Amino acid sequence: MPDRAENDWSTQLADIRRQGLWRELLPLQPDPAADHPQFIDGDGRALISFASNDYLGLSRHPALQRAAIAEIESSGLGAGAAPLLGGERPVHQALAADLADWLGVEAVLLFGSGYLANLGIISALVGRHDRIYADRLNHASLVDGARLCGARLQRYRHGDMAHLQQLLARGGSGRAWIISDGVFSMDGDLAPLPELASLAREYHARIILDEAHALGVLGDQGRGTLAHYHLGNEDVAVIMGTLSKAFGVYGAFVAGSQDLIDLLRNRARSFIYHTALPAALAATARVSLQMLRAGKDRRARLHTHRLMLRAELPDAPWLPSETPIQGLVLGDATRAMQVSGQLREVGLYCPAVRPPTVPQGSARLRITLSAAHRRDDLQALVTALREIL
Ligand SMILES: Cc1ncc(COP(=O)(O)O)c(C=O)c1O
Repeated sequence: MPDRAENDWSTQLADIRRQGLWRELLPLQPDPAADHPQFIDGDGRALISFASNDYLGLSRHPALQRAAIAEIESSGLGAGAAPLLGGERPVHQALAADLADWLGVEAVLLFGSGYLANLGIISALVGRHDRIYADRLNHASLVDGARLCGARLQRYRHGDMAHLQQLLARGGSGRAWIISDGVFSMDGDLAPLPELASLAREYHARIILDEAHALGVLGDQGRGTLAHYHLGNEDVAVIMGTLSKAFGVYGAFVAGSQDLIDLLRNRARSFIYHTALPAALAATARVSLQMLRAGKDRRARLHTHRLMLRAELPDAPWLPSETPIQGLVLGDATRAMQVSGQLREVGLYCPAVRPPTVPQGSARLRITLSAAHRRDDLQALVTALREIL
């Protein structure tokens, strides 16, 4: 028996290699002497990273580090238990209150990660007889949550509101849910939220919005896609946010009405059965939130970086995007790996993103910008891409 399993694994691995989809971990150590996203690889080489979702450059901010250390000294490291079984500390509640105040919602529930939050939200709220309408480019965790809940999943073409309307108009059993990323994680473009909200009203659907890449980056005080479009919270039923991207920390949360949060606390299995977020991360996220709210200059810097990149490489195969996620579509996986490798040779870390993360034939470089990048970092990237592309 074991032999057969092992043969099967080696066949699968050979397939992965043949398709150019082999993945390896590449440990990168932040360079302690650098105040921009410079990392050291296993061979001791310095690499400027364009791969991190630390958009505002907060992950290494001394104020965050001090907050983490102070909380570790008082609370220790692991929370030791599930939130409902003694893992919750006062600092978790303080963070939830801060987040609710920031987003202007009644309540917030913390989760261990965005992945867990999406699985928990969808499987707790959406019934087997309901209908889900999901953008084709939604994050994998939303797709997995939709599969887990057993509802009928209908995927509309990316950003295509006419297609969504067609599907909604067919109707069906149960309640209707529209699920979308606010900012799409691989393309960097925005969901057409005003149109989504109006279709939701017309067809009595509720919106679940994943704000992982929007919070901290878009809108007044970094409040995300809703703020960017000047929409009110009443336009969406559920907001999911992560603490792992612009916050520069780790963990996630769901924001909405008190009833929503009470229901998730009682029903979301990935909340009930996970160990609480370490208190130190909650304490750090509180400090991060203050900086993020006041982070106008950082957001302006990000904007300038993006404009510079696009202006310097006007003919590159960019995907349309108003956010720090800038995709350069290169087609097949092998070509994307090749370009990524050439960039690495000149000290720039820009990983290739390949299927199944992105659709077949759209392998790409996913370039993410940070307010912590220096102008020289961008110039180095521009010069290298001019030579390679
Ligand atoms: C759109 C989106 N949703 C959810 C997640 C999952 O969040 P986390 O990394 O906190 O698990 C990610 C992160 O990769 C994401 O890009």
